[in-house]
Amino acid sequence: MSERVRRAVCPGSYDPVTHGHLDVVARAAALHDEVVVAVLHNPAKAGTFTPEERVALVEHAVAAAGLADRVRVEAFGGRLLVDVCREVGADVVVKGLRGDTDFAYELPMALMNRHLTGVETVFLPGEPSLAHVSSSLVKEVVRYGGDVDGLVPVEVRDALVARLRDGR
Ligand code: PNS
Repeated sequence: MSERVRRAVCPGSYDPVTHGHLDVVARAAALHDEVVVAVLHNPAKAGTFTPEERVALVEHAVAAAGLADRVRVEAFGGRLLVDVCREVGADVVVKGLRGDTDFAYELPMALMNRHLTGVETVFLPGEPSLAHVSSSLVKEVVRYGGDVDGLVPVEVRDALVARLRDGR
């Protein structure tokens, strides 16, 4: 009897990827055979990096973490997460929760996604030492000259400095 591949999707804007995201991806990879990091559009957020740039930054970090054999990274423009899950053959979405604000934000999406296709969402408790790390805060810190070492991979820090130095 052939075993079914357990494939999870880690969705997000990843604009840009942080160590908080990468912690969740690594833990999702430990729980599943394969993980698809799905770079998606969040209509509520203006983008700093293009989808292709975000994918490249995540791919670099995934390779550096030694996860490239089980984690693939792809951008899915203009698509519902549930359709992405169908397309890649995943029946579970994995997301990290830094606290109750994240839960309040994530719960309606998890319920909507389950309503649409039955896909389940598994929440992982975020690593407490990274609870203050978000893409938007990291961008704000870089924009005003602050230090984000240890919060994002070095390549992400350098890309942020290059992109945000002109005040974008
Ligand atoms: O990192 P984010 O911005 O919190 O991730 C949110 C994201 C991109 C996962 C969410 O906006 C999403 O799933 N977008 C794809 C479109 C979709 O399926 N929308 C309905 C969600 S119930």
